[in-house]
Amino acid sequence: MTGLTSHAADIRDAKRVHDVVREARPEWIVLAAAYTDVDGCESEPELAIAVNRDGAVNVASAAKQVGARLVFVSSDYVFDGKKTAPYEIGDVRNPQSVYGQTKAEAEIELLELMPDCCIARTSWLFGVGGKCFPDTILKLAASRPALDVVDDQRGCPTYANDLARTIIQLCRKNAAGIVHATNAGDCTWFEFAQEIIKSSGLATTVRPVSSRQMARPAPRPAYSVLSPTGLRALGIEMPSWRDALRRYLEQRETPTSST
Ligand SMILES: NC(=O)c1ccc[n+]([C@@H]2O[C@H](COP(=O)([O-])OP(=O)(O)OC[C@H]3O[C@@H](n4cnc5c(N)ncnc54)[C@H](OP(=O)(O)O)[C@@H]3O)[C@@H](O)[C@H]2O)c1
Repeated sequence: MTGLTSHAADIRDAKRVHDVVREARPEWIVLAAAYTDVDGCESEPELAIAVNRDGAVNVASAAKQVGARLVFVSSDYVFDGKKTAPYEIGDVRNPQSVYGQTKAEAEIELLELMPDCCIARTSWLFGVGGKCFPDTILKLAASRPALDVVDDQRGCPTYANDLARTIIQLCRKNAAGIVHATNAGDCTWFEFAQEIIKSSGLATTVRPVSSRQMARPAPRPAYSVLSPTGLRALGIEMPSWRDALRRYLEQRETPTSST
């Protein structure tokens, strides 16, 4: 297995991407790289398009050239968040932000270029080693008696370790087309924060607030629960987000473990 950083291969550089892919001759490429600063994408749309759409196309065309299969990690932000029941894989894309638009356009271009590519849409990722919601909540809770957290956005928190395991299973099963890959169950950010605080044995108060009170440059979908139906059809089940959170907290305490 080869893991490439942005330094080794900037996906905006088509020639470099083709060179490293030709050299590595992979059976599968997992494309997780993206410009993920959702608010930054609003102020830098050209960069968002160059990385998230055109960069993905560069990787797909390099994969095609060497006969490699591709898993593209996509996002719940391709949807508008107006549904009140889980989004199915065939639901119409209607992104509300530049970030979501670039991921949606990448999905469309990739499926045209490489109809057997696998698009794994995920959401609300957290994991040890990077900035993520549980880490931010725990750091803030260490110095504040109370935290205000948005309670009108509902989605599926997803542990990066569980997503990685699912992607491996997708490769083993030769998956093609769109799947939704999130931990099971859903919650609001407020409910997620409450569970993080409770599971960590902290006394910090979590207060529910509305998105309007915490205005951000990019709109967030109010509801972006992704249905696991497509994943189940492949015989893959992901654990609940509460179980995933427990394992994340264990791993955060002892970073050498790999729960
Ligand atoms: N975070 C979420 O909640 C969420 C939800 C749904 C879907 N996703 C998708 O899941 C994937 C991983 O998300 P994440 O939040 O884990 O991302 P992340 O922590 O921001 O990591 C993104 C990675 O992409 C690399 N990258 C950025 N620009 C690049 C370029 N031009 N060429 C090559 N590499 C580049 C970054 O490298 P540097 O650090 O060196 O810049 C970084 O390693 C992304 O495709 C994202 O769209 C994320």
